[in-house]
Amino acid sequence: MNSTAPRIAPQLGWKVDDSAQLYQVDAWGSGYFGINAAGNVVVRPDQQPGREIDLLEVVEGLKARDLTAPVVIRFSDILAHRLKCLNDAFAQAIAENDYQNRYAAVFPIKVNQQRLVVEGVYRAGAPFGFGLEAGSKPELLVVLAMTEDTPDRLIICNGFKDDSYIETVILAAKLGRRIVPVVENFAELGLILKHAEKYGVRPQIGVRVKLAAEGAGRWRESAGEKSKFGLFINEILEVVGVLREHGMLDCLKLVHCHTGSQLQDIRRVKEAVTELAHVYAELKLMGAGLEYLDIGGGLGVDYDGSRTNFESSMNYTLNEYAGDVVYRIASVCNARRIPHPQIISESGRAIAAHHSVLVFNVLGASALDQFRVAGRLEDDSRDGGEVPQPVRDLYDAYRSVSERRLVECWHDALQAREQALQMFNLGYLNLEARGLAERLYWATCARIRDLCRRLESVPEELEGLETVLSDIYFCNFSVFQSLPDSWAIGQLFPIMPIHRLAERPGRNAVLADITCDSDGKIDRFVSLRETKRTLEVHELRAGEDYYLAAFLVGAYQETLGDLHNLFGDTHVVHIRLLEEGGWWIEETVKGDTALQVLGYMEYDTDELYPRLARDCERAVRDNRLTLPESQRLKRFYEAELQGYAYLEPDNES
Ligand SMILES: Cc1ncc(COP(=O)(O)O)c(C=O)c1O
Repeated sequence: MNSTAPRIAPQLGWKVDDSAQLYQVDAWGSGYFGINAAGNVVVRPDQQPGREIDLLEVVEGLKARDLTAPVVIRFSDILAHRLKCLNDAFAQAIAENDYQNRYAAVFPIKVNQQRLVVEGVYRAGAPFGFGLEAGSKPELLVVLAMTEDTPDRLIICNGFKDDSYIETVILAAKLGRRIVPVVENFAELGLILKHAEKYGVRPQIGVRVKLAAEGAGRWRESAGEKSKFGLFINEILEVVGVLREHGMLDCLKLVHCHTGSQLQDIRRVKEAVTELAHVYAELKLMGAGLEYLDIGGGLGVDYDGSRTNFESSMNYTLNEYAGDVVYRIASVCNARRIPHPQIISESGRAIAAHHSVLVFNVLGASALDQFRVAGRLEDDSRDGGEVPQPVRDLYDAYRSVSERRLVECWHDALQAREQALQMFNLGYLNLEARGLAERLYWATCARIRDLCRRLESVPEELEGLETVLSDIYFCNFSVFQSLPDSWAIGQLFPIMPIHRLAERPGRNAVLADITCDSDGKIDRFVSLRETKRTLEVHELRAGEDYYLAAFLVGAYQETLGDLHNLFGDTHVVHIRLLEEGGWWIEETVKGDTALQVLGYMEYDTDELYPRLARDCERAVRDNRLTLPESQRLKRFYEAELQGYAYLEPDNES
């Protein structure tokens, strides 16, 4: 980046609090993230100021251990704290509503199936008796193994189920697991009855209800009558009939619904829970042996901190959610004079999102506001010939920029640039002149933008200039691998620098990743009002690392990520807080090597190196490479096969 580019004066009057305000850390950080006096982001695993981990210190500590960025840093203490918060919120609501039963979450492992995460949730959920949810056969296999010593912890089985899935569930019940297959379509009931009879098991059965209450937001189609899952009320009545016929109506233990992930509006939660509670009451009064009411997932995460019903936010708190759920169920059951059911939620995002942070380094930047213009046009015209009229006009526009003539100069520059391009396409403007026109145009834009920054209100036509002139910061990660929801569904994640926060960030940038894909970029950033099109960043300093981080990435991102351009999994570490202050690394999972990724693509990885080595030897034989050159290439190739796919600091040798 050109160091002479115009910028806001750094430091002047800038405080750490200004950065906190700018990046809205307190709003989306929910007390887990903050900024310390040194201007670094800190992580507070149990939301207590003072008990904190300096994120830059961690990143530097990892670098010293050859774990260079990009890296996913998981804070297991945050995970445990999220589970405690969920339990406490329901415990409080249960006490306030004189509710006569308990609450338990079952963690849907699809949210983050990584072994260390699921084990972490399972371990930390033990004091609260939380269980697990499986949505597929492989997930069921994981869950069955994990509950080896704790058969009493609830397992809910959702998703499409075939014969062997159901047979496994029935045998697991015989093994002693508290496991509930949720009937998603009528055919599954037949399979349950078949295997229950075969093995002499009286299973606990659940039904997923297709609610009339529609979901909301991005996943609205998970609910409502058009949803892919669940049974219409009519079909549930058929289920009741069939179970009664088999003398098994007492086995119908659970009703379930899922109205979509990231429910941003509390009204949807209330509507769905009320409807489900009525279905529960009706079925109970018909003689079903119901004990559990499962409200599914959907508890949101306030990614932008705006506390609104915007897609990346939520207009309610965890306590409000728990309070409303408990109150609604209690009211319906009290009115119908039936016992209160055990409340289950399949909250995933709200448990896992906060505990992971993706840290990546910035590799370089390109800026459009760096073009310099000489005092005399003729000095700038390198070919020394006659300066064409549109170029002269652009020069005039550049010279005339003033606060009073901003829009006028902008129009002049636009028109002159258009004319210059037309002339070039007709062959009347040479490359030199076109280059000069380009330079003058961008320099004029930059001047206009700089003056706009001083205005209280920017003319509408010029509002987009800030974005047009923003820098591109090239970042060492893959959006497709590490933030797939940002690319696929426009999900917003809070992103900010993790250091230098006592300095005013003097640049605005969009972020480009290192894939060769123009979609591999981030150009929407969280803000309390409108989504920002650029992120405020600091100017890069030669020879100094600059780190940004994406926060709240613990839900759905890791396994949804793909191998675009063969960028595999990043390094992952689990960081724990030390009671006496500081931190330690509990777990390290090294990122994919190139060899591993190529193996996933079915290359014969044993053959890759020998093929190159053969070619090198032929080149030495034919004097196309010297022996040292050939050795260097072979060594490089071998090392890269074993190396991290992401860009690493320069090799000194
Ligand atoms: C059946 C079911 N339960 C639970 C969840 C988890 O939802 P969330 O992560 O929004 O809590 C999902 C996710 O879509 C789901 O389909």
